[in-house]
Amino acid sequence: MKIAISGKGGVGKTTLSACLARYFAKKGKKVIAVDADPDANLGTALGLDYLKAAEIVPLTDMKELIEERTGAKKGSYGGYFKLNPKVSDIPSKIGIDIDGVKLLVAGTIKAGGSGCYCPENVILKSLFRHLVINQDEVVILDMEAGIEHLGRGTCENMDMLIIVIEPGLRSIQTAHTVKKMATDLGIKTLYVVVNKIKTGGEEKLVREKLADFNVLGIMPYSESVRMSDLKQIQPCEADKIFAQKIEEIALKLQRSMIKSNKIFEQT
Ligand SMILES: Nc1ncnc2c1ncn2[C@@H]1O[C@H](COP(=O)(O)OP(=O)(O)O)[C@@H](O)[C@H]1O
Ligand SMILES: [Mg+2]
Repeated sequence: MKIAISGKGGVGKTTLSACLARYFAKKGKKVIAVDADPDANLGTALGLDYLKAAEIVPLTDMKELIEERTGAKKGSYGGYFKLNPKVSDIPSKIGIDIDGVKLLVAGTIKAGGSGCYCPENVILKSLFRHLVINQDEVVILDMEAGIEHLGRGTCENMDMLIIVIEPGLRSIQTAHTVKKMATDLGIKTLYVVVNKIKTGGEEKLVREKLADFNVLGIMPYSESVRMSDLKQIQPCEADKIFAQKIEEIALKLQRSMIKSNKIFEQT
């Protein structure tokens, strides 16, 4: 199951990515969490010490590896290179284990749409295409804020895209724009998760605005979750209700994948 998580800045994409990754890992799945935000912070959300996280070299900065795999020579990026580089060993080679989750920090996906066939993008796209073939594997892609990067093909080959929104028209607007782009992007399944809901009235108003969407879950605003970021503890360990909502979302995702015959039987 390959899940891409998108949405406006600050809505909770990384929080949701980390919580789902840890949930599936605890259930014994092989989880690869990909940080595709140039402002990478999925590692710390997964529990990695922030100083250690700062030392991680993103995949797109691994010049030697990129050259070795694509055949692109330094300074000759206009020249020929392989469009189907070997990537199958990349998660084990450069992935960082955090409590059973393998973290891959992707780096910056260059602008330029599908026409940008530079070696860095070819490595990333090949990686996203090849990750997860086994049925008991889960890939979670924590994406950059906004919609611009979607046009770069990052979520091609994903089984589903979750748009995270918060109670506010601006993030709902982003969701509508993504929905319009979804077919062009080759997204088969689109879900919305509403985060940071404070009251029932707020939930009602947001739901009304999301009538055209498949709402996967409604997550409460939680002071403990907010503080967990500062205290470097897991959001799901900080708040039981939040953890319960994550479990509900994870189960729905599994059911949706079973329906489309793409996933392990539910355990
Ligand atoms: N349900 C929530 N309640 C309170 N704070 C939250 C909640 N979800 C996320 N946050 C906080 O909001 C901030 C942004 O979350 P983050 O997951 O980094 O967003 P994004 O990845 O979309 O930019 C973080 O400080 C996080 O702890
Ligand atoms: Mg983030």
